[in-house]
Amino acid sequence: MSNDDFPTDRPAVVTCGLPYANGDLHIGHLRGYIGADAFDRALETLGQETAYVCGSDMHGTPVAVNAEQEGVDPEAFALEWHRQYEETFPKFNVEFDNYGHTHDETNTELTQEIVRELDDQGYIYEKEIQVAYDPDADQYLPDRYVEGTCPYCGEKARGDECDEGCQRHLEPGEVEDPTSTITGNPAEYRERTHKFFEVSEFADFLTDFLDDLEGTSNARNQPRQWIEDGLQDWCITRDMDWGIDYPAADGEAESDLVLYVWVDAPVEYISSTKQYSERVGTDGYDWEQVWKDEGDVVHFIGRDIIQHHTIFWPAMLEGAGYNKPRGIAATGFITINGKGLSTSRNRAIWAKEYLEEGFHPDLLRYYLMTTGGLQQDVDFSWDAFQETVNGELVGTVGNFWYRSLLFAYRNYEGTPETDVSAEVHERIQDALADVRESVNDYSLRGVGQAAVQLAQFGNEYIQRHEPWKLTDDEPERARQVIRDCVQIAKAVGVLLEPIAPDKAQRLWAQLGEEGSVADARLEDALEAPPRTFDEPGELFEKIEDDRVAELNEKLDERVAAAAETESDDTDADETGDMTATDELEPLADERISFEDFQELDVRVGRIEAAEGIEGADDLARLEVDIGFETRQVVAGIKQLHDLEELPGEKCILLANMEPAELFGVESNGMILAAGEEADLLTTHGDAAVGEKVQ
Ligand code: MF3
Ligand code: ZN
Repeated sequence: MSNDDFPTDRPAVVTCGLPYANGDLHIGHLRGYIGADAFDRALETLGQETAYVCGSDMHGTPVAVNAEQEGVDPEAFALEWHRQYEETFPKFNVEFDNYGHTHDETNTELTQEIVRELDDQGYIYEKEIQVAYDPDADQYLPDRYVEGTCPYCGEKARGDECDEGCQRHLEPGEVEDPTSTITGNPAEYRERTHKFFEVSEFADFLTDFLDDLEGTSNARNQPRQWIEDGLQDWCITRDMDWGIDYPAADGEAESDLVLYVWVDAPVEYISSTKQYSERVGTDGYDWEQVWKDEGDVVHFIGRDIIQHHTIFWPAMLEGAGYNKPRGIAATGFITINGKGLSTSRNRAIWAKEYLEEGFHPDLLRYYLMTTGGLQQDVDFSWDAFQETVNGELVGTVGNFWYRSLLFAYRNYEGTPETDVSAEVHERIQDALADVRESVNDYSLRGVGQAAVQLAQFGNEYIQRHEPWKLTDDEPERARQVIRDCVQIAKAVGVLLEPIAPDKAQRLWAQLGEEGSVADARLEDALEAPPRTFDEPGELFEKIEDDRVAELNEKLDERVAAAAETESDDTDADETGDMTATDELEPLADERISFEDFQELDVRVGRIEAAEGIEGADDLARLEVDIGFETRQVVAGIKQLHDLEELPGEKCILLANMEPAELFGVESNGMILAAGEEADLLTTHGDAAVGEKVQ
């Protein structure tokens, strides 16, 4: 079964992963919140009824551990961060319809109600398990209170997540060689009775759910593998004080356990929608319709929390009688100057810092949304930021807006009175179709590109017709060209609004339009702007080279300062962080001759087809055209790349590699890649397919 295209006649709700209320926001967080915000705005432009909701994630060890380090009570600590987040998001034009938090009454009640319902339906049972305990600290060690080795991939892991390795969720007791993060002592194990949710009962439901699921392909592929490997039941309680109490059934003794943070956190998606409904009235927006009856639920998340959103959460929803999500967009990480973002190493761009530098939020929004596809990792550098801003926003969009509006203002005091030409009408319609398609593909990059390419067309259109030469001799033609340009300018504004809402609004006002461009629909891009408008101003400002040099220097300095004071503790502790690996493999001592090198037959290839190999976690089968022939190769990139997007990409292939057979598939060559994410090597110029690398 596939879904109807957006816009549907049902209400939609767009959410983004809840930020733990435990520290400063950075660019890694912003990517997700901006992405979901832009998607929500784009849906509205299409005419979809939507709500955009989120809230702070107040519970669990991510908050408790940090509060303890500061010596403050977790509630006060989390509330303070919550307050700061509420202030920060609007500064990036991230506008939630409701922003709550998981510790409020709505969420506490709804979480307990859902857990009760799961229990009533027979999906919850008790089991005695071994939990880590620190005898010196005299406390149990849930989740981030314990560290050890991941039993699946052997990397260093936290008690409940393999954050530096395979990203799997870990159950209590699973982490190997556990040590207490409080004292550094090896943890002991003690027997405790905990509550389990029978996730394993939902394997068939989840398989069907994934077949219908829209969004990014990583949110379908990884969980399919986990289901195939066999689902485990999920321990949903913890030995802690901070959290939502496990709700005792009538007649049952009060439990001293709290719910695991990953139970109450996603429920906030519903609670926050409910609060929105309560504020605007169910006539304005009906939360129960979306969550229980007919609605489109779309989650934006970081790719480190795919398992929680594609396994645990839909199973909870199904078990308690709620709708399953329609789409899950799992975004890649952010790197800084090519290296992993690391809060502990201060290698990050902080939300506050960006604002203090005086940059407009829409510039970052545009950069983050268009630099890579949602699932790709996106590198941020001030140099690349400058290039994007100066090239696409200043050079293409700003330049087009300014020159067309100025020309219109000087010669006609506004929009010339004539109809838009058929050519331009059609070009705008094509752009609208691109946007509709991009939104349905969850491609915000596509939305941004449609807008900028239209502006680019506008620039070429002016250049081609040279209206300044026509005003005297052919006034009718000049009028036509400028009329067309004003319409293109307006359309670019409507299309850019999801990504650069504030800049689009200023353009809107300059055109003399009333109200908010956020309320404009796609079709409005074809409606004539008001007859007159005022003299326009420039909407984008170039970023100068010395500014970039200064910013680079500041960043280098603080990374160096953090390295000096660095402890052994190199945790990467917020959504969007990735493993920081400064340890490069040492350079080889031994030299080889040019002849030795020439023995390697390395070729430029083009990927023709890519598909996952069944039964193999990481392997993909590729067909690569190397000029003379097409080679089948096996590469360990299944989890790391969106296979659907690879065909057409150029790559570099070692052609005289000995053939090998992997999972029954012959591999006849090796494609070259670097880094933990298997960044595929390629060429950037005109090297033809089949060309030898030398
Ligand atoms: N706070 C979690 C994190 O940063 C995300 C929670 S998302 C929700 O990883 F689904 F639980 F809401
Ligand atoms: Zn692992």
